[in-house]
Amino acid sequence: MTVNSLMQAIADIGADPIRGGYSRPVYSDADLTLREWFISEAQTRGLDVETDHNGIIWAWWDRQASAGESVEATRRNSVVTGSHLDSVPGGGAFDGPLGVASALAALDELKAREQSGALKRRRCLAITVFPEEEGSRFGVACLGSRLMTGAITREKALNLRDSEGLSFGEVAADHGLTPDLIGEDPARLSTIGAFVELHVEQGRGINTPEYTAADGKQPAVAVGNTILGHGRWRLSVTGQGNHAGTTLMDDRADPMVAAAEITLATRNTAREHPGARATVGRLQPIPGGTNVIASRVDLWLDVRHPQDEVTATVVEKIYSRAKDCALAHGCQVEMVEESYSGTVHFSPELSSQLEAAVRRTVPDAPILPTGAGHDAGVLAAHVPSGMIYVRNPTGISHAPEESVENDDADQGVQALADALSGLLEA
Ligand code: GLV
Ligand code: MN
Ligand code: MN
Ligand code: MN
Repeated sequence: MTVNSLMQAIADIGADPIRGGYSRPVYSDADLTLREWFISEAQTRGLDVETDHNGIIWAWWDRQASAGESVEATRRNSVVTGSHLDSVPGGGAFDGPLGVASALAALDELKAREQSGALKRRRCLAITVFPEEEGSRFGVACLGSRLMTGAITREKALNLRDSEGLSFGEVAADHGLTPDLIGEDPARLSTIGAFVELHVEQGRGINTPEYTAADGKQPAVAVGNTILGHGRWRLSVTGQGNHAGTTLMDDRADPMVAAAEITLATRNTAREHPGARATVGRLQPIPGGTNVIASRVDLWLDVRHPQDEVTATVVEKIYSRAKDCALAHGCQVEMVEESYSGTVHFSPELSSQLEAAVRRTVPDAPILPTGAGHDAGVLAAHVPSGMIYVRNPTGISHAPEESVENDDADQGVQALADALSGLLEA
């Protein structure tokens, strides 16, 4: 099956008529429907599907066990590929699902190669779906891979809350997970010998004059080398809730005004540090009434930079400026770190294997860093991990305008199949 027909089959799931694009928060109806879709596609292909203690779905294409060898033993040191199916609010069609659909399409290709004798597998292959990659519901991105690797503790994860106040522990239990078993899973981790994630490119990485040929053509795919360090912080600005009509302008302690200035200071601070990106993408006034001066405003800060020390400096400066902004409006501010992931350098050995394999289909495939976070980045601290990016002509992501052309997606599958096939034979 082609990756484009697989993507077509899920094109209506979680479409958001209000924001545009897709809203598929983890364990929402849309996410659950997508997870069912994946399980059914995997089972149709004869894969052995299981969901682990952290809600990660594994679909195994096992190899023949030799005499006396258990299935568990054959699965150690496997080749694993996959991505996620959850989305940000109003996100694009490709961020996550393209990697999952491409993995299924690449598997079809690999099966055909095995049948024709062109592939001699020595390792098992698994396709994985990681839950809550976006952190859109519980606030911590890559929650599934962080749990498996121990990058977040069970206690912290179970107590994360969504915007309705439901804890991750409660929601996970409602979806068949056992809270006591959630968390670090070295046995699972040891099944991964190499992890490759295919993903839509999320900026203008490929779509630049540097990689555009004289005829206007750009390479369909790129290979990842680094992920910028990135984190999330929550700032709570408290003031005095009051009446919008009776409180004179000079008598206010309005945290919304302070939050507006903090947002501006965020942009200005990032601009002082080349390469830094700092965003306030979410803001919540409490109680949130048109005729009510808020008593508190929570705002979430996302800061990224290739050097971890610079990220730390940017965050410190923003916090210090936020205190000044708050004070100037009779308010106070507190900041807490919600998550942080340092800059990741993918395994040079795996990356050069990927590079060689990918360049068979796309000879001019560039090697690119990315500012987007991925489960491959979390796994990279434990197992050789690498990424393949598919060109995004709009250069837009986390928005409905995210785009991928069919021919590029097909080349992405070819590149992924070549990369996996090399690893499966190694
Ligand atoms: C997730 O896609 C992120 O990079 O924030
Ligand atoms: Mn994303
Ligand atoms: Mn993604
Ligand atoms: Mn991501």
